[in-house]
Amino acid sequence: MEIAVAGGTGIAGSEVVRIAQQRGHRVRVLTRGNGVDVRSGDGLDALLDGVEVVVDALSTSTQSARVSTEFFTGTTSHLLAAGLRAGVRHHVALSIVGVDRAPHGYYAGKLAQEQAVQSGQVPWTVQRATQFHDFASQLYRNASVGPLHLAVRMLTQPIAVVEVATRLVDLAEAGPTGRARDIAGPREEQMSEMMRAWAAHTGRRGWMPEMGLPGAFGRALRDGSILPGDDADLGTVSFEDWLRAQPRG
Ligand SMILES: NC(=O)c1ccc[n+]([C@@H]2O[C@H](COP(=O)([O-])OP(=O)(O)OC[C@H]3O[C@@H](n4cnc5c(N)ncnc54)[C@H](OP(=O)(O)O)[C@@H]3O)[C@@H](O)[C@H]2O)c1
Repeated sequence: MEIAVAGGTGIAGSEVVRIAQQRGHRVRVLTRGNGVDVRSGDGLDALLDGVEVVVDALSTSTQSARVSTEFFTGTTSHLLAAGLRAGVRHHVALSIVGVDRAPHGYYAGKLAQEQAVQSGQVPWTVQRATQFHDFASQLYRNASVGPLHLAVRMLTQPIAVVEVATRLVDLAEAGPTGRARDIAGPREEQMSEMMRAWAAHTGRRGWMPEMGLPGAFGRALRDGSILPGDDADLGTVSFEDWLRAQPRG
């Protein structure tokens, strides 16, 4: 199968590329390094010619609802329009468990992306996943004040990105299914403990005070609003298993 992966150099996208190639699919990577700017649409038509399935694993770093919504609706409309022109049969989008249950600017953009996919003309699948195990290291870098790194209080059921990517390739092969069943990791975790464990494992020293984020979003993170429902499919790789396999230092 001919598969295009938007964001194929990112955490999730690069695993989708690797797994799809391993299964014998021909994969095109839609990123700026390959001459495709999905935000402006530049370069899309040339790379989508002959593609059957598009997997969207794009992301942008923002907390602003306006910036996030512009990014995710803009990139989705370019992917869908170019997909229609190229005869793409299936658009697969990766989203986040609980985007409709926690008020955050980034999540507002993801919700708008889901709505754009669902009302588009290309047959679609939307897969929501919980935070990747890697999220602990991303938060360590982002939740800092000067030299101090904050251990963020957040209930999560994190998943190994390889399990998310495997599911995305399974869905690409299966054909359009609409809203797929949510996926999550095997165990509920406290993000502050994940962050401290990751810091210790990778040799980062120093006091990490625990902190809850302010406002309604912070409350939603602490009260379990973004945990998966009982009907979610669960992966098998725990955060502890994942961390053990990460390089030290
Ligand atoms: N991280 C998590 O814990 C998590 C959990 C659940 C769901 N998700 C969702 O999964 C998706 C992927 O997240 P991620 O963390 O894997 O993302 P990421 O590592 O930040 O990767 C983002 C990708 O988007 C590409 N990109 C950004 N702007 C672009 C543009 N204008 N044109 C073309 N490519 C562009 C980047 O490529 P270049 O910079 O090379 O162009 C990169 O490949 C997101 O939609 C996110 O909401 C993430």
